[in-house]
Amino acid sequence: MFNFFHKKSAEKPLFPYTTEVHCHILPGIDDGSPDTEHSLPLLRQMSEWGIEKVIATPHVTEATFENTPQTVGDAYDRLCREPEFGELGIQLCYSAEYRMDDNFLAILQRNEVMPMPGNHLLIENSFLQPFWNIKELVFDLQLKGFSPILAHPERYAYYYDDKKIYQELHDQGCEFQVNLLSLAGYYNKRTKEVAEWLVSKQMVDYLGSDMHNSNHAQHIGRYLASKEFVRNMRNITPRNNTL
Ligand SMILES: [Fe+2]
Repeated sequence: MFNFFHKKSAEKPLFPYTTEVHCHILPGIDDGSPDTEHSLPLLRQMSEWGIEKVIATPHVTEATFENTPQTVGDAYDRLCREPEFGELGIQLCYSAEYRMDDNFLAILQRNEVMPMPGNHLLIENSFLQPFWNIKELVFDLQLKGFSPILAHPERYAYYYDDKKIYQELHDQGCEFQVNLLSLAGYYNKRTKEVAEWLVSKQMVDYLGSDMHNSNHAQHIGRYLASKEFVRNMRNITPRNNTL
């Protein structure tokens, strides 16, 4: 089987990708890093894991984090201006994690989305309820030329009792990004089980750290050292490095 491990040495499997596609490391614009002093150690940790390219994906959520190309661009510039940032040798770009809500629909209408490379868009549901017509929205996004990636599908508890929605969305061409933190058991047992179920169904297209803070980094670090990590990664071929 294709060996996807990014190896620095024969005995030490490191990260399963070199392009991070989901993280909250831009300073001061969502519930992730509050300032550049917190962003830099997170980026340093990523660099030590072997990550070479980071696509920052701050929240764009109605009423809580109504980020715009301006707010995200300003935060990006602040981070890039830090002398220490240049020393990390990480390629940084930005997109967003779009909550499917009225704000997102308005952004689409105004043509103000910040897509990832390849016109991919990271979209998420609320944790309380799914977007009411997610299948139609996915279809509309595809019509507009975007390739939607559903962020952490394993975290939407209202999908657990009837999992056919996963297959339906995936068959529709909506790709899935699973959180390493979910596989690590960071959120709860059920989330971990559903993440592993998605692995077993070969529906994991991308992995992501969804890193907000140093606590997340520590949990991911511990997971990397586990046998479980090695076992799970045997069954995932993430496409992160194509972005
Ligand atoms: Fe996120």
